[in-house]
Amino acid sequence: APNPLVDRFGRVHTDLRVSLTDRCNLRCTYCMPAEGLNWLPKAEVLTDDEIVRLVGIAVDRLGIRSVRLTGGEPLLRRGLPGLIARLTGLGPELSLTTNGIGLARTAGDLKAAGLHRVNVSLDTLRPDRYAEITRRDRIADVLAGLAAARDAGLDPVKVNAVPVRGVNEDEILDLVAFAAEHGYRMRFIESMPLDAQGAWDRDKMITADEILEILGGRWQLVPVGRHGNAPAEEWRIAGTPTVIGVIASVTRPFCGGCDRVRLTADGQLRNCLFATRESDLRALLRGGADDDRIERAWRDTIARKGPGHDIGSAEFVRPDRPMSAIGG
Ligand code: GTP
Ligand code: 5AD
Ligand code: SF4
Repeated sequence: APNPLVDRFGRVHTDLRVSLTDRCNLRCTYCMPAEGLNWLPKAEVLTDDEIVRLVGIAVDRLGIRSVRLTGGEPLLRRGLPGLIARLTGLGPELSLTTNGIGLARTAGDLKAAGLHRVNVSLDTLRPDRYAEITRRDRIADVLAGLAAARDAGLDPVKVNAVPVRGVNEDEILDLVAFAAEHGYRMRFIESMPLDAQGAWDRDKMITADEILEILGGRWQLVPVGRHGNAPAEEWRIAGTPTVIGVIASVTRPFCGGCDRVRLTADGQLRNCLFATRESDLRALLRGGADDDRIERAWRDTIARKGPGHDIGSAEFVRPDRPMSAIGG
Protein backbone atom coordinates (compact mmCIF):
# COMPACT_ATOMS: atom_id res chain seq x y z
CA ALA A 1 0.00 0.00 0.00
CA PRO A 2 1.22 3.53 -0.69
CA ASN A 3 2.73 5.61 2.07
CA PRO A 4 0.89 8.96 1.87
CA LEU A 5 2.59 12.17 0.86
CA VAL A 6 2.26 14.31 4.00
CA ASP A 7 3.84 17.72 4.50
CA ARG A 8 4.95 19.37 7.73
CA PHE A 9 1.49 20.94 8.19
CA GLY A 10 -0.15 17.53 8.01
CA ARG A 11 -1.64 18.09 4.57
CA VAL A 12 -2.02 14.81 2.69
CA HIS A 13 -1.37 15.10 -1.04
CA THR A 14 -3.64 12.93 -3.16
CA ASP A 15 -4.06 15.11 -6.24
CA LEU A 16 -1.52 15.51 -9.04
CA ARG A 17 -1.75 18.03 -11.89
CA VAL A 18 0.32 17.08 -14.90
CA SER A 19 0.99 19.64 -17.62
CA LEU A 20 1.30 17.96 -21.03
CA THR A 21 2.57 20.97 -22.98
CA ASP A 22 3.24 24.66 -22.39
CA ARG A 23 1.86 25.52 -25.83
CA CYS A 24 -1.56 26.93 -26.51
CA ASN A 25 -3.66 27.68 -29.56
CA LEU A 26 -5.29 30.70 -27.87
CA ARG A 27 -3.64 33.87 -26.59
CA CYS A 28 -5.94 34.90 -23.74
CA THR A 29 -5.08 38.48 -22.86
CA TYR A 30 -5.02 37.70 -19.12
CA CYS A 31 -2.59 34.84 -19.71
CA MET A 32 -0.02 35.57 -22.41
CA PRO A 33 1.05 38.16 -24.98
CA ALA A 34 -0.25 38.15 -28.57
CA GLU A 35 3.02 36.73 -29.91
CA GLY A 36 2.91 33.76 -27.55
CA LEU A 37 5.84 32.66 -25.39
CA ASN A 38 9.17 30.90 -25.90
CA TRP A 39 7.82 27.37 -25.99
CA LEU A 40 9.81 24.51 -24.54
CA PRO A 41 11.92 22.60 -27.07
CA LYS A 42 10.44 19.16 -27.68
CA ALA A 43 13.48 17.39 -26.24
CA GLU A 44 12.79 19.01 -22.86
CA VAL A 45 9.17 17.86 -22.71
CA LEU A 46 8.53 14.57 -20.93
CA THR A 47 7.68 11.65 -23.19
CA ASP A 48 4.59 9.49 -22.64
CA ASP A 49 6.80 6.76 -21.14
CA GLU A 50 8.31 9.25 -18.69
CA ILE A 51 4.90 10.59 -17.63
CA VAL A 52 3.52 7.09 -17.19
CA ARG A 53 6.49 6.12 -15.05
CA LEU A 54 6.14 9.16 -12.78
CA VAL A 55 2.39 8.80 -12.40
CA GLY A 56 2.88 5.11 -11.63
CA ILE A 57 5.26 5.98 -8.81
CA ALA A 58 2.85 8.66 -7.58
CA VAL A 59 -0.09 6.24 -7.47
CA ASP A 60 1.67 3.11 -6.21
CA ARG A 61 4.03 4.63 -3.67
CA LEU A 62 2.77 8.10 -2.79
CA GLY A 63 -1.00 7.69 -2.59
CA ILE A 64 -1.98 9.97 -5.47
CA ARG A 65 -5.63 9.21 -6.29
CA SER A 66 -6.59 11.81 -8.86
CA VAL A 67 -4.67 13.16 -11.80
CA ARG A 68 -5.63 16.23 -13.82
CA LEU A 69 -4.05 16.81 -17.22
CA THR A 70 -3.40 20.47 -17.97
CA GLY A 71 -1.34 22.69 -20.27
CA GLY A 72 -0.92 25.12 -21.99
CA GLU A 73 -3.55 23.34 -23.97
CA PRO A 74 -3.39 19.58 -23.31
CA LEU A 75 -5.40 18.65 -26.42
CA LEU A 76 -2.40 19.83 -28.47
CA ARG A 77 -0.48 16.81 -27.23
CA ARG A 78 -0.10 14.16 -29.95
CA GLY A 79 -1.49 10.74 -29.18
CA LEU A 80 -3.44 11.96 -26.15
CA PRO A 81 -6.00 9.11 -26.10
CA GLY A 82 -3.14 6.60 -25.94
CA LEU A 83 -1.54 8.39 -23.01
CA ILE A 84 -4.91 8.63 -21.24
CA ALA A 85 -5.51 4.92 -21.65
CA ARG A 86 -2.12 4.17 -20.09
CA LEU A 87 -2.71 6.58 -17.19
CA THR A 88 -6.23 5.36 -16.39
CA GLY A 89 -4.76 1.86 -16.40
CA LEU A 90 -2.69 2.94 -13.38
CA GLY A 91 -5.90 3.52 -11.43
CA PRO A 92 -6.36 7.22 -10.59
CA GLU A 93 -9.42 9.30 -11.36
CA LEU A 94 -8.38 11.17 -14.51
CA SER A 95 -9.61 14.59 -15.58
CA LEU A 96 -8.57 17.25 -18.08
CA THR A 97 -8.64 21.04 -18.18
CA THR A 98 -8.90 22.44 -21.70
CA ASN A 99 -9.89 25.51 -23.68
CA GLY A 100 -12.23 23.20 -25.57
CA ILE A 101 -10.82 23.71 -29.06
CA GLY A 102 -10.63 20.32 -30.73
CA LEU A 103 -12.78 18.72 -28.06
CA ALA A 104 -15.68 18.24 -30.47
CA ARG A 105 -13.47 15.92 -32.50
CA THR A 106 -11.80 14.08 -29.60
CA ALA A 107 -14.30 13.86 -26.73
CA GLY A 108 -15.50 10.38 -27.72
CA ASP A 109 -11.95 9.02 -28.00
CA LEU A 110 -10.96 10.56 -24.68
CA LYS A 111 -13.96 9.04 -22.94
CA ALA A 112 -13.28 5.66 -24.54
CA ALA A 113 -9.68 5.88 -23.32
CA GLY A 114 -10.99 6.19 -19.77
CA LEU A 115 -11.03 9.94 -19.10
CA HIS A 116 -13.56 10.75 -16.39
CA ARG A 117 -14.16 14.52 -16.49
CA VAL A 118 -13.32 17.76 -18.33
CA ASN A 119 -13.23 21.41 -17.29
CA VAL A 120 -13.53 23.83 -20.19
CA SER A 121 -12.57 27.51 -20.16
CA LEU A 122 -15.16 29.93 -21.54
CA ASP A 123 -15.17 33.55 -20.40
CA THR A 124 -17.91 34.94 -22.62
CA LEU A 125 -20.81 33.87 -24.82
CA ARG A 126 -20.36 36.66 -27.36
CA PRO A 127 -18.27 35.71 -30.40
CA ASP A 128 -16.79 39.20 -30.84
CA ARG A 129 -15.83 39.39 -27.19
CA TYR A 130 -14.43 35.86 -27.23
CA ALA A 131 -12.17 36.89 -30.10
CA GLU A 132 -11.02 39.95 -28.15
CA ILE A 133 -10.26 38.04 -24.96
CA THR A 134 -8.56 35.04 -26.58
CA ARG A 135 -7.29 36.83 -29.72
CA ARG A 136 -8.74 33.96 -31.80
CA ASP A 137 -12.16 33.64 -33.42
CA ARG A 138 -12.90 30.14 -32.10
CA ILE A 139 -15.97 30.28 -29.88
CA ALA A 140 -17.94 27.95 -32.16
CA ASP A 141 -15.34 25.20 -31.64
CA VAL A 142 -15.58 25.61 -27.88
CA LEU A 143 -19.37 25.45 -27.83
CA ALA A 144 -19.26 22.33 -30.02
CA GLY A 145 -16.59 20.86 -27.76
CA LEU A 146 -18.68 21.39 -24.64
CA ALA A 147 -21.68 19.68 -26.19
CA ALA A 148 -19.54 16.81 -27.45
CA ALA A 149 -18.01 16.30 -23.99
CA ARG A 150 -21.45 16.18 -22.39
CA ASP A 151 -22.79 13.84 -25.06
CA ALA A 152 -19.76 11.57 -24.68
CA GLY A 153 -20.61 11.14 -21.00
CA LEU A 154 -17.74 13.13 -19.53
CA ASP A 155 -19.72 14.10 -16.45
CA PRO A 156 -19.94 16.68 -15.00
CA VAL A 157 -18.68 19.08 -17.65
CA LYS A 158 -17.53 22.22 -15.83
CA VAL A 159 -17.16 25.64 -17.43
CA ASN A 160 -14.43 27.92 -16.04
CA ALA A 161 -14.70 31.69 -16.46
CA VAL A 162 -12.35 34.37 -15.17
CA PRO A 163 -14.42 37.55 -14.82
CA VAL A 164 -12.42 40.71 -15.41
CA ARG A 165 -13.71 44.19 -14.64
CA GLY A 166 -14.76 46.10 -17.72
CA VAL A 167 -14.31 43.00 -19.90
CA ASN A 168 -16.90 40.32 -19.15
CA GLU A 169 -18.30 40.79 -15.65
CA ASP A 170 -21.60 41.80 -17.21
CA GLU A 171 -22.02 38.20 -18.44
CA ILE A 172 -21.93 36.42 -15.09
CA LEU A 173 -25.70 35.82 -15.03
CA ASP A 174 -25.80 34.88 -18.71
CA LEU A 175 -23.03 32.32 -18.24
CA VAL A 176 -24.94 30.69 -15.38
CA ALA A 177 -28.12 30.55 -17.47
CA PHE A 178 -26.19 29.12 -20.43
CA ALA A 179 -24.58 26.40 -18.33
CA ALA A 180 -27.86 25.48 -16.65
CA GLU A 181 -29.62 25.24 -19.98
CA HIS A 182 -26.98 22.93 -21.48
CA GLY A 183 -26.25 20.77 -18.47
CA TYR A 184 -22.82 22.15 -17.58
CA ARG A 185 -21.60 23.32 -14.17
CA MET A 186 -20.56 26.97 -14.10
CA ARG A 187 -17.56 28.20 -12.08
CA PHE A 188 -16.10 31.65 -11.66
CA ILE A 189 -12.41 32.11 -10.88
CA GLU A 190 -10.70 35.11 -9.28
CA SER A 191 -7.82 36.08 -11.52
CA MET A 192 -4.39 35.43 -10.02
CA PRO A 193 -1.08 37.22 -10.67
CA LEU A 194 0.19 34.46 -12.95
CA ASP A 195 0.03 36.01 -16.41
CA ALA A 196 3.22 36.02 -18.47
CA GLN A 197 3.17 39.79 -18.98
CA GLY A 198 3.06 40.69 -15.29
CA ALA A 199 0.04 42.89 -15.98
CA TRP A 200 -2.29 41.47 -13.31
CA ASP A 201 -4.19 44.26 -11.62
CA ARG A 202 -6.02 43.52 -8.38
CA ASP A 203 -8.58 46.22 -9.13
CA LYS A 204 -9.57 44.43 -12.35
CA MET A 205 -10.17 41.18 -10.50
CA ILE A 206 -13.83 40.47 -9.75
CA THR A 207 -13.90 39.13 -6.19
CA ALA A 208 -15.97 36.25 -4.87
CA ASP A 209 -18.07 38.75 -2.89
CA GLU A 210 -18.85 40.69 -6.05
CA ILE A 211 -19.75 37.51 -7.92
CA LEU A 212 -22.03 36.40 -5.11
CA GLU A 213 -23.67 39.81 -4.96
CA ILE A 214 -24.42 39.68 -8.68
CA LEU A 215 -25.80 36.14 -8.43
CA GLY A 216 -27.70 36.96 -5.25
CA GLY A 217 -29.41 39.86 -7.02
CA ARG A 218 -31.10 37.39 -9.33
CA TRP A 219 -31.40 34.13 -7.41
CA GLN A 220 -31.61 32.88 -3.88
CA LEU A 221 -28.37 30.99 -3.22
CA VAL A 222 -27.97 28.11 -0.80
CA PRO A 223 -24.38 27.35 0.28
CA VAL A 224 -23.27 23.81 -0.59
CA GLY A 225 -19.68 24.12 0.64
CA ARG A 226 -16.60 22.50 -0.78
CA HIS A 227 -15.92 18.95 -1.98
CA GLY A 228 -13.07 17.84 0.24
CA ASN A 229 -10.13 20.12 -0.40
CA ALA A 230 -11.29 21.36 -3.80
CA PRO A 231 -10.59 25.03 -4.56
CA ALA A 232 -14.21 25.66 -5.58
CA GLU A 233 -16.88 26.63 -3.05
CA GLU A 234 -20.37 25.89 -4.32
CA TRP A 235 -23.81 27.44 -4.08
CA ARG A 236 -27.10 26.04 -5.31
CA ILE A 237 -29.85 28.15 -6.82
CA ALA A 238 -32.74 27.52 -4.43
CA GLY A 239 -35.38 25.22 -5.81
CA THR A 240 -33.27 24.16 -8.81
CA PRO A 241 -30.55 21.58 -9.50
CA THR A 242 -28.20 24.37 -10.63
CA VAL A 243 -24.89 24.54 -8.75
CA ILE A 244 -22.42 27.40 -9.19
CA GLY A 245 -18.78 27.25 -8.11
CA VAL A 246 -16.48 30.10 -7.10
CA ILE A 247 -12.69 29.71 -6.90
CA ALA A 248 -11.54 32.58 -4.71
CA SER A 249 -7.79 32.02 -4.58
CA VAL A 250 -7.11 35.64 -3.70
CA THR A 251 -9.85 36.74 -1.29
CA ARG A 252 -10.60 33.35 0.32
CA PRO A 253 -7.41 31.33 0.00
CA PHE A 254 -7.71 27.60 0.51
CA CYS A 255 -4.03 26.73 0.98
CA GLY A 256 -4.70 25.30 4.46
CA GLY A 257 -6.37 22.27 2.89
CA CYS A 258 -4.16 21.99 -0.16
CA ASP A 259 -3.75 18.42 -1.37
CA ARG A 260 -2.02 19.19 -4.68
CA VAL A 261 1.31 18.68 -6.29
CA ARG A 262 2.21 19.69 -9.83
CA LEU A 263 4.39 18.33 -12.59
CA THR A 264 5.34 20.70 -15.42
CA ALA A 265 5.58 19.59 -19.04
CA ASP A 266 9.37 19.62 -18.73
CA GLY A 267 9.36 17.33 -15.73
CA GLN A 268 9.77 19.78 -12.86
CA LEU A 269 7.91 18.97 -9.67
CA ARG A 270 6.30 21.94 -7.87
CA ASN A 271 4.81 21.77 -4.39
CA CYS A 272 2.64 24.84 -5.08
CA LEU A 273 1.26 26.89 -7.95
CA PHE A 274 3.27 29.73 -6.41
CA ALA A 275 6.40 27.72 -5.56
CA THR A 276 9.67 29.52 -6.16
CA ARG A 277 11.64 26.30 -6.34
CA GLU A 278 11.20 23.12 -8.40
CA SER A 279 12.60 19.62 -8.29
CA ASP A 280 14.06 18.28 -11.53
CA LEU A 281 12.49 14.87 -11.97
CA ARG A 282 13.37 14.83 -15.65
CA ALA A 283 17.05 14.90 -14.80
CA LEU A 284 16.54 11.98 -12.44
CA LEU A 285 14.55 10.02 -15.03
CA ARG A 286 17.08 10.62 -17.76
CA GLY A 287 20.01 10.02 -15.43
CA GLY A 288 18.82 6.48 -14.74
CA ALA A 289 17.45 7.01 -11.21
CA ASP A 290 15.52 4.08 -9.75
CA ASP A 291 12.00 4.38 -8.29
CA ASP A 292 13.32 4.74 -4.73
CA ARG A 293 15.38 7.76 -5.73
CA ILE A 294 12.42 9.39 -7.50
CA GLU A 295 10.13 8.67 -4.55
CA ARG A 296 12.65 10.35 -2.25
CA ALA A 297 12.89 13.47 -4.44
CA TRP A 298 9.10 13.66 -4.43
CA ARG A 299 8.88 13.39 -0.62
CA ASP A 300 11.66 15.99 -0.22
CA THR A 301 9.71 18.42 -2.39
CA ILE A 302 6.58 18.01 -0.27
CA ALA A 303 8.61 18.25 2.94
CA ARG A 304 9.67 21.78 2.04
CA LYS A 305 6.21 22.96 1.00
CA GLY A 306 5.31 26.30 2.58
CA PRO A 307 2.01 27.20 4.26
CA GLY A 308 0.59 28.86 1.16
CA HIS A 309 0.66 31.93 -1.04
CA ASP A 310 0.48 35.49 0.22
CA ILE A 311 -0.96 37.28 -2.82
CA GLY A 312 -1.66 40.83 -1.75
CA SER A 313 1.06 41.06 0.87
CA ALA A 314 4.29 43.00 0.38
CA GLU A 315 6.22 39.72 0.58
CA PHE A 316 4.43 38.11 -2.37
CA VAL A 317 6.83 36.86 -5.03
CA ARG A 318 5.52 35.81 -8.43
CA PRO A 319 6.62 32.35 -9.49
CA ASP A 320 9.32 32.38 -12.17
CA ARG A 321 7.01 30.76 -14.72
CA PRO A 322 3.61 31.93 -15.90
CA MET A 323 0.47 29.87 -15.35
CA SER A 324 0.55 28.44 -18.88
CA ALA A 325 3.97 26.91 -18.21
CA ILE A 326 2.99 25.53 -14.80
CA GLY A 327 -0.39 24.04 -15.68
CA GLY A 328 -2.65 26.21 -13.54
P1 GTP B 1 -11.88 20.04 -10.09
O1 GTP B 1 -12.21 20.63 -8.78
O2 GTP B 1 -11.31 18.67 -10.01
O3 GTP B 1 -13.01 20.08 -11.07
O4 GTP B 1 -10.71 20.89 -10.78
P2 GTP B 1 -10.00 22.25 -10.43
O5 GTP B 1 -10.99 23.32 -10.23
O6 GTP B 1 -9.06 22.01 -9.34
O7 GTP B 1 -9.14 22.48 -11.76
P3 GTP B 1 -9.13 23.52 -12.96
O8 GTP B 1 -7.97 23.10 -13.79
O9 GTP B 1 -10.44 23.63 -13.63
O10 GTP B 1 -8.76 24.88 -12.29
C1 GTP B 1 -9.68 25.91 -12.03
C2 GTP B 1 -8.95 27.08 -11.42
O11 GTP B 1 -8.50 26.72 -10.12
C3 GTP B 1 -7.71 27.53 -12.20
O12 GTP B 1 -7.65 28.93 -12.22
C4 GTP B 1 -6.59 26.96 -11.38
O13 GTP B 1 -5.42 27.71 -11.51
C5 GTP B 1 -7.15 27.08 -9.99
N1 GTP B 1 -6.48 26.16 -9.10
C6 GTP B 1 -6.39 24.82 -9.21
N2 GTP B 1 -5.65 24.33 -8.21
C7 GTP B 1 -5.25 25.38 -7.47
C8 GTP B 1 -4.45 25.54 -6.32
O14 GTP B 1 -3.92 24.58 -5.76
N3 GTP B 1 -4.26 26.80 -5.86
C9 GTP B 1 -4.82 27.88 -6.44
N4 GTP B 1 -4.60 29.07 -5.90
N5 GTP B 1 -5.58 27.78 -7.53
C10 GTP B 1 -5.78 26.56 -8.03
N1 5AD C 1 -5.85 33.49 -12.81
C1 5AD C 1 -6.85 32.59 -12.61
N2 5AD C 1 -7.25 31.70 -13.51
C2 5AD C 1 -6.62 31.71 -14.67
N3 5AD C 1 -6.78 30.95 -15.75
C3 5AD C 1 -5.87 31.33 -16.69
N4 5AD C 1 -5.12 32.33 -16.22
C4 5AD C 1 -5.57 32.60 -14.97
C5 5AD C 1 -5.19 33.52 -13.97
N5 5AD C 1 -4.21 34.41 -14.14
C6 5AD C 1 -7.81 29.92 -15.84
C7 5AD C 1 -8.23 29.57 -17.23
C8 5AD C 1 -8.67 28.13 -17.09
C9 5AD C 1 -8.11 27.66 -15.79
C10 5AD C 1 -7.31 26.42 -15.86
O1 5AD C 1 -7.33 28.72 -15.30
O2 5AD C 1 -9.27 30.38 -17.65
O3 5AD C 1 -10.05 28.00 -17.06
FE1 SF4 D 1 -4.28 29.14 -23.45
FE2 SF4 D 1 -5.37 28.74 -21.06
FE3 SF4 D 1 -3.60 30.69 -21.34
FE4 SF4 D 1 -5.99 30.94 -22.55
S1 SF4 D 1 -5.62 30.81 -20.29
S2 SF4 D 1 -3.96 31.34 -23.50
S3 SF4 D 1 -6.48 28.86 -23.04
S4 SF4 D 1 -3.18 28.50 -21.54
